[in-house]
Amino acid sequence: MTTATLWGARADGAARGWELVPMDSNILPLVAEVEKTAYSHPWGIGHFSDSLLSGYWLQMLVTEPQPDDPAEWASAPRLPDGRWLLGYLVAMPGFEEVHLLNITTVPLHRRHGCARLMMGALIAWSRLQGALALWLEVRVSNRGAIALYEGLGFRQLNVRKGYYPDADDRREDALVMSLRLGTERDAAATEGARA
Ligand SMILES: CC(C)(COP(=O)(O)OP(=O)(O)OC[C@H]1O[C@@H](n2cnc3c(N)ncnc32)[C@H](O)[C@@H]1OP(=O)(O)O)[C@@H](O)C(=O)NCCC(=O)NCCS
Repeated sequence: MTTATLWGARADGAARGWELVPMDSNILPLVAEVEKTAYSHPWGIGHFSDSLLSGYWLQMLVTEPQPDDPAEWASAPRLPDGRWLLGYLVAMPGFEEVHLLNITTVPLHRRHGCARLMMGALIAWSRLQGALALWLEVRVSNRGAIALYEGLGFRQLNVRKGYYPDADDRREDALVMSLRLGTERDAAATEGARA
């Protein structure tokens, strides 16, 4: 999958086209700036460029500007071509599994379904890779992200004690969560059974 057009609705009900496009190295300084606004321990440019070099799946959710875009978006991040950057993800393919390493929505664009859209695209892509499971780590305090994953059917596998750095040299536990995917054929069969 290179570029996908996804359609969704903003919280105010307005229809809007969102596109998932590959992240490239020119965009990394912008993405690293967003990281600083999203995490206590953000990834730097090197994390993203290493991921690109390793052939991981790095995607950005973007949308075309529209005349009625809210005035407060004026300071929101934009790509060089003028499109709004809404969020991004980084996923590492493995043997029959995919590991989600990073998913982030720009703070101004949260609670409009951006992460749910990106996760849907990731699940579809993972199935195409032949992955049977998608898994991730999440801070135990990150209730919003945990709610997102649980809403998509992820289940808690275990806890990694002290996995994440925290303030003042403390550590925070990680939940390991996983979603069973089945194959593309299983998904089609399920859809067929529902029809
Ligand atoms: C977690 C994060 C990616 C969610 O992005 P988002 O685009 O706002 O999420 P969505 O709008 O798609 O939310 C989908 C669902 O997830 C849950 N959810 C998301 N954020 C939530 C929050 N802050 N509190 C409670 N539930 C939340 C809700 O069930 C939501 O559905 P609803 O809005 O219909 O109630 C975003 O808050 C973020 O970038 N946080 C900082 C980075 C981070 O923590 N990434 C995850 C690392 S594991």
